[in-house]
Amino acid sequence: MKLFLDTANLVQIKKLNQMGIVDGITTNPTLVAKEPGDFEDIIAAICREVKGDVSAEVVATNFDGMVAEARHLSTIAPNVVVKIPIIPEGLRATKVVSGMGIRVNMTLVFSANQGLLAAKAGASFISPFIGRLDDIGQRGMDVVEDLVKIRDNYHMKAEVLVGSIRHTQHVLEAAKAGADIATMPAEVMEKMMQHPLTDAGLKRFLDDWEQAKKARASITV
Ligand code: E4P
Repeated sequence: MKLFLDTANLVQIKKLNQMGIVDGITTNPTLVAKEPGDFEDIIAAICREVKGDVSAEVVATNFDGMVAEARHLSTIAPNVVVKIPIIPEGLRATKVVSGMGIRVNMTLVFSANQGLLAAKAGASFISPFIGRLDDIGQRGMDVVEDLVKIRDNYHMKAEVLVGSIRHTQHVLEAAKAGADIATMPAEVMEKMMQHPLTDAGLKRFLDDWEQAKKARASITV
């Protein structure tokens, strides 16, 4: 499974990317709004840093506007993927935009049926938002599991990109379900690295090493 960061913060992206664990980036208007600077400059800088796919979202909600924005965003860098919301105009725009060879990440997916339509319209990525479903008392992972099954049943080319990840268990469950990609905040990726037994084990190794060094030094003296 590919691991993406769900952030527009270049500092966070650089820190984790240099570990070789970042396959791509997803952004959305909320995430970009948190960062200083111009939207396109931010996306361009992220695309220079990360070689994998970088999703940048349209903000128009009508067909013409979405197509125009998608065309423009795709000129920023070859690894830009255009995020389009799953609304009727968005499906129409996806059909046209994907027909131009621009890859689309269909976003704000909350049901497997929406995801099925996204794939049919030509989206390259389907983004179910699982945390937001959990927030309203529905099991978000059900949508992921259904989409993975549908993808496999019909050999769909669209990749299941799990978004709105809140914690490390979501990543694990997405991987077990067979999702193609999980996109997560930097904090979640950092937590994936951590285990108290790793810290305790390292401390013990280093303490034992120091003890042995002191013991050897006292024998030499
Ligand atoms: C995915 O592409 C979205 O940017 C994101 O995961 C939304 O997550 P949120 O529910 O934490 O805002």
